[in-house]
Amino acid sequence: MLFDWNDPETHLDIIWHLYSVIFKALKLLTDNMQVTFCRLRTHQWCFILFNVILFHALLFGADFVEEYFLHALPYVDMKVLEIKDKARKLNMEPLRSNLSKYYILSQSEVCKGKNIFLLSLVFSSPGNETRRDLIRKTWGSVTSVRGHSILTLFALGMPFLVTTQQEIDKESHKNNDIIEGIFLDSAENQTLKIITMTQWAVTFCPNALFILKVDEEMFVNLPSLVDYLLNLKEHLEDIYVGRVIQQETPNRDPKSQEFVSFSEYPERYYPDYCSAEAFIVSQDVAQMMYVVSQEVPVTVPADVFVGICAKSIGLVPIHSSRFSGKKHIRYNRCCYKFIFTSSVITDAEMPLVWKEINDGKECTLFETYYGLISCKLLTYLDSFKGYHMGTIKNNAVYFRD
Ligand SMILES: *[C@@H]1O[C@H](CO)[C@@H](O)[C@H](O)[C@H]1NC(C)=O
Ligand SMILES: *[C@@H]1O[C@H](CO)[C@@H](O)[C@H](O)[C@H]1NC(C)=O
Ligand SMILES: *[C@@H]1O[C@H](CO)[C@@H](O)[C@H](O)[C@H]1NC(C)=O
Repeated sequence: MLFDWNDPETHLDIIWHLYSVIFKALKLLTDNMQVTFCRLRTHQWCFILFNVILFHALLFGADFVEEYFLHALPYVDMKVLEIKDKARKLNMEPLRSNLSKYYILSQSEVCKGKNIFLLSLVFSSPGNETRRDLIRKTWGSVTSVRGHSILTLFALGMPFLVTTQQEIDKESHKNNDIIEGIFLDSAENQTLKIITMTQWAVTFCPNALFILKVDEEMFVNLPSLVDYLLNLKEHLEDIYVGRVIQQETPNRDPKSQEFVSFSEYPERYYPDYCSAEAFIVSQDVAQMMYVVSQEVPVTVPADVFVGICAKSIGLVPIHSSRFSGKKHIRYNRCCYKFIFTSSVITDAEMPLVWKEINDGKECTLFETYYGLISCKLLTYLDSFKGYHMGTIKNNAVYFRD
């Protein structure tokens, strides 16, 4: 048989066959327990075991390889040392005294005198107060994990309408958690948004150890994220972590909106970078990025921009498959207690998810394992939507809670 690995149907076929085999074996066992146990010969056991292993390898193999083997080598040269030095001596005083030039709403005092472990900046669109309120009530309401404090703020650009600005002013007055930069909040201005917010973080929150950039459509499990950061390294520097995208090529189609010309970015591949939906940098990295951001072309997508900045300071992104990237992870309580983020959570889903994962019930190792298989498999099958056969859908019901 010839496999075309790029054909999604092949993957589906293989998983489907594995399932048939495993279920047949299980059925055989349960139907005929004692007899079968005795009669199965070594090679039959080996066959079953092989299939179980293959199944796990297919499901988790890619994550494993990405996480532990695909690391580019870091490098240090004179330029990097120079940038490090500049970052350490960064003087943000002029900016502080001319605040109104850069920000409409600046929250310049929210970080003052606090020991902040994680500053989470939710990139939100100006008109989406509904979403911000939902985040304030759910995952954004976490202010401390194991004694480490967390601050969640919303990052906005200017709206197109004056009336929206009035709404934002009211909302900001009530919640004191909105930063609004002086630039139009459009799809094309997202790189500018990242630069402005990095500038904000290094100016007004230099006491935050880590900075999370996250989009408003995401669900974030802050407690598991904090646990992960605590275990990451001894000293909390040089960190740039998220769902790493490798060997991405620039869009060279002149008709496309995301077109990047050769003169703006001449190389064939982008450097490795963390997917835009959610990533974390440590404070020192934010400062260095701010220093180099003036030299990087702003026409590339915002997340690539950060990746290019990281590369120029000799930093290699750390990958964790617990960041979902663009993917919506199918809900399962124990799975959601383990992962860091999931994308495209609907307004209706958010409070339900939040309530369930905070019900105080712990997950056993087996429950977490089962949860991961379940949400991984269902998410995987979701990626074939429009492709699927009815039978697979029906059978997938087996794995649902
Ligand atoms: C900021 O204000 C100071 C005076 O407080 C002025 O000397 C400086 O030029 C201003 N900087 C910018 C970038 O406008
Ligand atoms: C980006 O922001 C600048 C500053 O507000 C604005 O002049 C420009 O029109 C915006 N670009 C787009 C494409 O919206
Ligand atoms: C608000 O954000 C959510 C999540 O990204 C999105 O589904 C919704 O369409 C947005 N609403 C507005 C008015 O922009």
